[in-house]
Amino acid sequence: MTHATPSPLAARRASPLKGRLRVPGDKSISHRALIFGAMTVGETRISGLLEGEDVINTGKAMGALGATVERTGAGTWRVHGVGVGGFRQPSQVLDFGNSGTGCRLVMGAVAGCPITATFDGDASLRKRPMKRILDPVALIGARAVTLADGGRLPITLAGARDPVPIVYRTPVPSAQIKSAVLLAGLAAPGETVVIESEASRDHTERLLTHFGADVRVEADGTDGRKITLQGEPELTPAAVVVPADPSSAAFPLVAALIVGGSEVILTDVMTNPLRTGLITTLKEMGADIEPLDIRDDGGEAMADFRVRASALRGVEVPAARAPSMIDEYPVLAVAASFAEGTTVMRGLHELRVKESDRLAAVADGLVANGVDVEIAGDDLIVHGKGRPTGGGTVATHMDHRIAMAFLVMGLATEKPVVIDDATFIATSFPDFVPMMRGLGADLT
Ligand code: S3P
Repeated sequence: MTHATPSPLAARRASPLKGRLRVPGDKSISHRALIFGAMTVGETRISGLLEGEDVINTGKAMGALGATVERTGAGTWRVHGVGVGGFRQPSQVLDFGNSGTGCRLVMGAVAGCPITATFDGDASLRKRPMKRILDPVALIGARAVTLADGGRLPITLAGARDPVPIVYRTPVPSAQIKSAVLLAGLAAPGETVVIESEASRDHTERLLTHFGADVRVEADGTDGRKITLQGEPELTPAAVVVPADPSSAAFPLVAALIVGGSEVILTDVMTNPLRTGLITTLKEMGADIEPLDIRDDGGEAMADFRVRASALRGVEVPAARAPSMIDEYPVLAVAASFAEGTTVMRGLHELRVKESDRLAAVADGLVANGVDVEIAGDDLIVHGKGRPTGGGTVATHMDHRIAMAFLVMGLATEKPVVIDDATFIATSFPDFVPMMRGLGADLT
């Protein structure tokens, strides 16, 4: 999908936000449901799939690799898989658009198969590091035949003829790296082991188990984990129900906190503890967020949350919490700019290699809207003074979360906030604008 014409959008100070909202399905689980479904033999049914551009591109890649992927209704999809190691050589380039997750996970899956495939993406994805995947899959036996400078896309990857199981310690806490190694390891005989010194989201471990793989998870040190996968399983199809994405819920949630008089209920939000760092942090800041109905469905817990406008205060967010809220820092920084006092967010080096350099993009956007902000090493420091002025235009750098975070900001600043391009919101939350308008937001 190309986004040739930028589409600016302005957010203006809104009257109280009210209503109930179910944000779209979780992006991480949606990618995995399609990929793992394609690696089973037989039919996997998925409901609640996120139908954003990122996930659709993953579905197309699965089709190009030989699986049958069909939409049967709103959010309901059927995947006919080809089994572990069964991908066929694609006749076209696999284009992942804006999505690091889709690209990196499929690289792992292809690395365990005796085929050659070319991976590409948009200008944002072409800037992102891929060596973090190429290094471990080389140990398994895959080889980059061609690649752009700095180990970037486009990359042609020759998968392993005889994949070997490895023990791999991830260099940074990253579920994408962990998942790529585990997916390649599915095709290797024996045990593939991934050790991470800080636990990252564990949807791959949970969903592979759901599909019948033998996955053992043990603690490693204080915050780390050791994951052991038994190779060459016969994955069996299993229904997947995708809960609402906590990373998407973060935007209406923060909007409800900062727009005076708001009360919003967010339903079916996944509460996997490796994804809830934002809620922990906002509660420490004084946010009124109440879980109403906590339940478990298909291996992932979820809850409805009632959120009321709240006076926030600055806090220190420890680096160890970063993996559980890595995608939420842009909107947390916005919340921090409405707090009284300083918020220090530590250990954000991975934010530099997301869909944009989010550390720089967030700081620039806040400065443009009158907020006092500093970057010190890998830390982001926001000096909150209650209500920022706004009135700035924000460069979104092809990054959906920068776009949504600053639209949220403009709902509560004195003057409107303009973003230079809203088109990339469609990668993860296609109905963001109409859904926010439904709560009473002024976005034009
Ligand atoms: C994701 C992992 C995270 C996150 C991304 C989704 C996943 O990236 O930022 O949006 O689904 O595995 P890293 O694993 O690179 O931190």
